[in-house]
Amino acid sequence: MPHHRGDGPAPFDIESVRRIRREYGAWAPVYDWFARATSSIGGVRDGCVAALDLDPGDTVVDFGCGPGVNFPALREAVGPEGRVVGVDVTRPMLERARGLAERRGWENVSLVQGDATNPPIESADAVLATFVTSLFPDPYAVCGWCELADSVVVANFAPHGGRVANAALGAFARLNARLFDFEAADPLRQLDARTAESRRALSDCLDSVDYRDYVFGTIRVHAGHRRSDAE
Ligand SMILES: C[S@@+](CC[C@H](N)C(=O)[O-])C[C@H]1O[C@@H](n2cnc3c(N)ncnc32)[C@H](O)[C@@H]1O
Repeated sequence: MPHHRGDGPAPFDIESVRRIRREYGAWAPVYDWFARATSSIGGVRDGCVAALDLDPGDTVVDFGCGPGVNFPALREAVGPEGRVVGVDVTRPMLERARGLAERRGWENVSLVQGDATNPPIESADAVLATFVTSLFPDPYAVCGWCELADSVVVANFAPHGGRVANAALGAFARLNARLFDFEAADPLRQLDARTAESRRALSDCLDSVDYRDYVFGTIRVHAGHRRSDAE
């Protein structure tokens, strides 16, 4: 069971958190439906969970868990003795996640409202964040997660596909410019830079980082691991 941190203030970007709460709070029901309807597309979520390298009994934290779309695969990987902890800054998202856990009778899922860039968690076996770190003002904040766990996996949109795939991603990013907080006219470049910054954090803070591309190269999953002493 992870411990909650009680130590002092942190680099809390109140404006960014307010913006996220406003945007994702309003969209929570639609997002829940959309994320569930598309959850198996391209095998991204299953790929993320496989990359975490979880064992039965492990504790895994899902930062920016939203309505809990990753929970079924995470629960399956950690088994009945393991724990899944969802952290999100947006209450209506957490309420959706809580509703899901209650409906399914999942007793090993807990939910914490908090800012993932100032994690309210002290330790875990693994950390997952899908489509979250590109929303951070500073995606290098992922480095802090490497102090919590030996295995950190992040999935983000990134323009590594062909022309058509990248154009579609660009249109999607422009449509959601408010959510991503894009300022300039070139959302693809900003997405790319933010995804690269998360990767840089993982490679600075862990021993190995691999990546895999999904959905025509528009989603990149980075998996960072710390070598255990036994290896
Ligand atoms: C695009 S949704 C992704 C939800 C889920 N991970 C998924 O894959 O469906 C982004 C989620 O990240 C949350 N989020 C964004 N910034 C956050 C932060 N600093 N701390 C905690 N949650 C955050 C939002 O509230 C939202 O629920």
